[in-house]
Order: sequence, then structure tokens, then C-alpha cells
Amino acid sequence: MKQIRQMVLVSRPGGMLRETDFAIRKSENRTAGPGELLVRTLYLSADPYMRPRMNEGPSSFALGEPIRGNGLGVVEESADPMFKAGDIVSGMFEWADYTVLEGNDAKIAYTYGAPLTALLGVLGLTGLTAYFGMLDFGKPQKGETVLISSAAGAVGSIAGQIAKIKGCRVVGITGSDEKVKIVREELGFDGVINYKKENLGEAISRFCPKGVDIYFDNVGGEITDEVLQHINLFARIVICGQISQYNLEEKSTGPRPFPTLLFKSAIAQGIMVRHHADRFDHARDELAAWLKQGTLHARETVVTGLENAPRALIGIFNGENIGKQIVKVSEP
Ligand SMILES: NC(=O)c1ccc[n+]([C@@H]2O[C@H](COP(=O)([O-])OP(=O)(O)OC[C@H]3O[C@@H](n4cnc5c(N)ncnc54)[C@H](OP(=O)(O)O)[C@@H]3O)[C@@H](O)[C@H]2O)c1
Repeated sequence: MKQIRQMVLVSRPGGMLRETDFAIRKSENRTAGPGELLVRTLYLSADPYMRPRMNEGPSSFALGEPIRGNGLGVVEESADPMFKAGDIVSGMFEWADYTVLEGNDAKIAYTYGAPLTALLGVLGLTGLTAYFGMLDFGKPQKGETVLISSAAGAVGSIAGQIAKIKGCRVVGITGSDEKVKIVREELGFDGVINYKKENLGEAISRFCPKGVDIYFDNVGGEITDEVLQHINLFARIVICGQISQYNLEEKSTGPRPFPTLLFKSAIAQGIMVRHHADRFDHARDELAAWLKQGTLHARETVVTGLENAPRALIGIFNGENIGKQIVKVSEP
């Protein structure tokens, strides 16, 4: 029986994720049982939410078991009549060379004319989060000022461009000069702030002289505390993610936002993309159309090799990715 590699979680990180929290385990490849598919992994998605799932909790990854997440692969054996060898499918994959999927949990990868990896990014959960977060909760109106944290990231880069498509003035916050340049020049934001170099409060006042109507929050923490000082009456705050908090050893207490929301008659709403699954197809159609028209640009950072998957995930917390972070495991 062929040996395959699986990337397992071996310890629960107390704080910042470490490469030593993962290990490669060799195991025998399974065959597809009734209704199952044996799938060779092509691409895996590395996502911030994986870090909180490494803590002890009801939905945590099990110690000694492979990390699981979104992936794309090619069917090598099918015991489900809806699939055949050679089909490219998406689903929840183990971080491994091969994964066994229930046919019911796999989906034929339809790319809308975009590269295959777009199904993990702009046409996958991060693009869909940007779409529903910005349109349903941000409700962007022409001429409004929109501020996006982690503006060069998978969600933030798409959320900002959607607001541009809707006629807003869009300002991004990001963590390096390289990202500032890309977000401004390639993605067309009106202004971009490097929060690691600039005084954030002064920079927001400069880039958003009329205040902030929509804040799309990917990071939380001190960045969000500062942004709240600049929101307008009736502002909408889309709480998409809180990445600055995921590696903290102790919960942070910060300025409490409710007085600000009260006095500004503002709305803050969390988005969980899975609650919008009934409209994913419609959203993908629209995102794919914008890609085709060239009004939407999708960046990816691809790291090669299953053995480098932990490094790719850790890199997200160090700001190493631009756009969607993907791990390439084998050749399509
Ligand atoms: N609610 C949902 O359904 C849903 C779905 C997908 C993602 N999310 C959330 O959306 C957010 C973005 O996810 P993504 O996949 O698009 O990731 P991403 O933005 O592509 O990558 C994360 C980026 O966050 C920034 N960052 C990391 N640590 C930070 C810190 N301590 N303070 C400030 N910025 C920090 C880094 O960029 P810089 O170089 O700019 O610092 C890093 O590149 C995450 O919080 C994620 O949990 C939510």
C-alpha cells in the first residue's frame, strides 16, 4: 500500500503559532469505500480561522489528527456514480497528499473561466465573505468613505474593490510599503495607510477627511479602537475577523465600543459567511463577471509543498501573504 504524508497538529499553541505545533505523519493510503472518493490534493487553503481552532474547544482540531480545511484535488478513485477518475473537486480536505471525501461532501470544481485556485480565494469563502459583508452589511452608497483593515489580504482586497465598484472612496490599512503600493496601484484604492509606520489616527484623519461611513474590520484590537474614533453618524461596521486577537495568550480588554456606537447611531454586525450559503452561486456569478470585466483583481500567494503548509499559515499572522494564501501540494 502506498505511503502518504499527513500534516497533523501535535500541540496546542499557547500563544503565537509555531512550526513545532505541527508534524508530518506517514500513513497508508486508503481506498475509496462505498460512496467515497479518493482525491489527490492539488491545493489547500491556509486561513486565519484555523488558529482559534487549535485551542481547546468544541470545534477544535484534534491533537494527533490532520488539520482540515478547504482544498482542491483530482479524483483518483471514485465509488460514487456522480464522479469519475480525473474530475477536479473541491471540499473539506485533510492537510495530506491524499484525502478521502464522501461524494455528498465534494463538488465538481467549476471555475467560471478563472484559474482553478480562484475557488479557494476570490470565488471561494474569502471572496464570498467580502461580497456579503460589504454588500449586505456595509450597504455602500456612492460617495461614502469606506475604510478596510488588512486591505491587502484575501477578504480585505476584494471587499475594498467591491466598494470601489459601488462608487465609494476607499481607504485601506495594511502593514508594509510593498502592500501599500499594490493596494493603491493594482487594486485602485484611493488611499492606503501603513499602520506599522504611520500614526494611525493622524493618517485616518488625512485620508478620510469626511470621516468613515463603513469600516470593514478584519483585524480588531488597537487598529479598530482607533478607527472607531473616526466613524460618522449612522456608520456601518462590518465585523469580519479579529486576526490581531487569535494568537493572544490572554483575552485583551480594550476601549469599550458601545458608547461610540450609541452616540453615532452606528450599527456593528458580525458576518459568518456560511450563513449566506443559499446565495453563493449568485455571488460567484457576479464576482466572476467583475473578474472578467477587469474591475476586480485577485491576488494570491502560493507556497509549494505540504511540508511548508505550517509556514504558510504562520506567515498569515506575520503579514507575509498578499491576497489569498494557498499551499500547492501536487501538480494539477
Ligand atoms: N467571518 C467570516 O466568515 C470570515 C471568513 C474568512 C475570513 N474571515 C476573517 O477575515 C480576516 C481576514 O482573513 P483573510 O483570510 O483575508 O486573511 P488575510 O487578510 O489574507 O491575511 C491576514 C493579514 O492580516 C494582517 N495581520 C496579521 N496579524 C495582524 C495583527 N496582529 N494586526 C493587524 N493586522 C494583522 C496581515 O496583513 P498586514 O501586513 O496588513 O498586517 C496578514 O497578511 C481574518 O480575521 C479572518 O478570520 C472571516
